[in-house]
Amino acid sequence: MARPTVRSASRPKAGLVALGGGDRARDPGRVTLVGAGPGDPELLTIKALKALQAADVVVHDGLVSDEILDLAPSAARRINVAKRKSRHTLPQDDINQLLVALALDGLTVVRLKGGDPFLFGRGGEELAACRDAGVDCTVVPGVTAALAASAGAGAPLTHRGAAQAVTFVTGHAAHGEPDLDWTALARPNQTVVVYMGVSTAGLIAERLTAAGRAGSTPALIVENASRPDERRILTTVAGLAVAAEGLKGPALLMVGEAMAMAATGLGVGTPDLADLQVLQSASLRS
Ligand SMILES: C[S@@+](CC[C@H](N)C(=O)[O-])C[C@H]1O[C@@H](n2cnc3c(N)ncnc32)[C@H](O)[C@@H]1O
Repeated sequence: MARPTVRSASRPKAGLVALGGGDRARDPGRVTLVGAGPGDPELLTIKALKALQAADVVVHDGLVSDEILDLAPSAARRINVAKRKSRHTLPQDDINQLLVALALDGLTVVRLKGGDPFLFGRGGEELAACRDAGVDCTVVPGVTAALAASAGAGAPLTHRGAAQAVTFVTGHAAHGEPDLDWTALARPNQTVVVYMGVSTAGLIAERLTAAGRAGSTPALIVENASRPDERRILTTVAGLAVAAEGLKGPALLMVGEAMAMAATGLGVGTPDLADLQVLQSASLRS
């Protein structure tokens, strides 16, 4: 695996070291990469809560709610590095350096990330940067968005006779389209969960159908999973692009026969797979 470039720990980027606590410079600090889960604070693990309560500084991204941040001591410094797609405030390399610099300054650093740190969270790069700099770094897993979306909807990711496998993919690519094995993803009897796929929903549907997935395959979109404003849209692969229009919050596209089990909140029940259309788009907790 290619290791990311990390500037020498003794020469961190100007301005980053000044964030630490000066007289503690000789104490060894450490970094904990903590999964904050999908939004609902009750989906935090006890280990995540303990790590937060012990933090001197919390470095967090844009998907972490204030409710969760408020679980850290009020004296803990908060640094928002806002890693929302296309709204980066700090490049990844700078985040890596920041974590290292804070820890080398003797601080107990919590790097709080939405969902799970190792699932489309770039946690691996942060861990590698810490290791390269000799900084102690541990990882606390979090509930990834797909698990919350599936549980909330009552649509299992695997289901006897309908989904013998589940695959998590990204719908985002820095340039062009995501490099995915469409033939494998188009096979029946599995669930495909697409993270960061709202803006490419049409392309994903096109590629899946071109590779052989039926346009009538059930598809579920879950926006803001586990949050008070969670929305679910049950549709089909053919309807994905239209259904994804206008979504503002973080959302998942979930494709597969088992998604037909999704509770729609309007008493729709299990729909007829042959004529699935967009059945609803309603706030489920209002
Ligand atoms: C950079 S990825 C981070 C994934 C995160 N590490 C996880 O394990 O859930 C961001 C994407 O995760 C998905 N996501 C994160 N939180 C979500 C939520 N509460 N509801 C729906 N999708 C969510 C969206 O697809 C969003 O674009």
